[in-house]
Amino acid sequence: MHGIARQNRAPIRPQAPDVRGEKGRQLNQQTLSMRLERVAAHVPAGARLADIGSDHGYLPVALLRRGLIAAAVAGEVALTPFHAAQRSVRENALDSGISVRLANGLAAIEPGDGITAISICGMGGETIRDILDSGKARLNGEERLILQPNGGEQPLRQWLMDHGYRILCEEVLRENRFFYEIIVAERAGPVSYTAEELYFGPLQLQARSPAFLAKWQRMLRLKQKTLAHFARARQAVPEEKVQDIARQARWISELLA
Ligand SMILES: C[S@@+](CC[C@H](N)C(=O)[O-])C[C@H]1O[C@@H](n2cnc3c(N)ncnc32)[C@H](O)[C@@H]1O
Repeated sequence: MHGIARQNRAPIRPQAPDVRGEKGRQLNQQTLSMRLERVAAHVPAGARLADIGSDHGYLPVALLRRGLIAAAVAGEVALTPFHAAQRSVRENALDSGISVRLANGLAAIEPGDGITAISICGMGGETIRDILDSGKARLNGEERLILQPNGGEQPLRQWLMDHGYRILCEEVLRENRFFYEIIVAERAGPVSYTAEELYFGPLQLQARSPAFLAKWQRMLRLKQKTLAHFARARQAVPEEKVQDIARQARWISELLA
């Protein structure tokens, strides 16, 4: 098992002058979004990275161009992004360092790849969980997981706990109007998190960063809106559902109190 490997802290600066927000800005293998820059910072130096759901392959291409990883696999399940990743790799003459594979989830990884880090980013937490679960036979337990779920963090943390992964680092970041979470984990034997820790993130709960608090302020408003909507709804909402949202609103209120 790796220790807590050194994070890549080399300044990763956009080289193109016109850096706009993630929505609509010109992203490429040099100019990553802030979200992907933060993901990049958690990839251990010298890693052999599998980037699953790589889309254009921007993350592995940027990391290899910067000399921060040794090699990568870019896995894609869909044909159009698979071709886009192939193009990025070809245009950067990185064919010898990045293998682009059309595959579902962790099926992109082959035993001989010697993968030491896996990134799965920009998908729902449940999708990331399902990718990990259906591909768990391909995990050797030595890889660092760098996960960036868009929602569904709780079921993803539940899977990590159930499979002996300790959360080493967590981040909430805000880019434009959106909040993103990054969860970094490694297999460490049995770990136990409380229901609140699975919901908010065990390390986030302690660190209480401004972005984390801002995210949960917004979430509280959304939960309260949902509860008000339930109260006005013509058709009865199942009591279990109302109680679940009410419990979440209570936890968030307590967090922010
Ligand atoms: C929204 S994009 C995110 C791209 C990139 N990872 C990022 O964070 O910017 C999600 C990508 O994941 C791919 N994807 C979804 N499910 C997948 C799976 N089971 N295996 C491989 N790729 C998958 C999609 O085809 C899509 O290109």
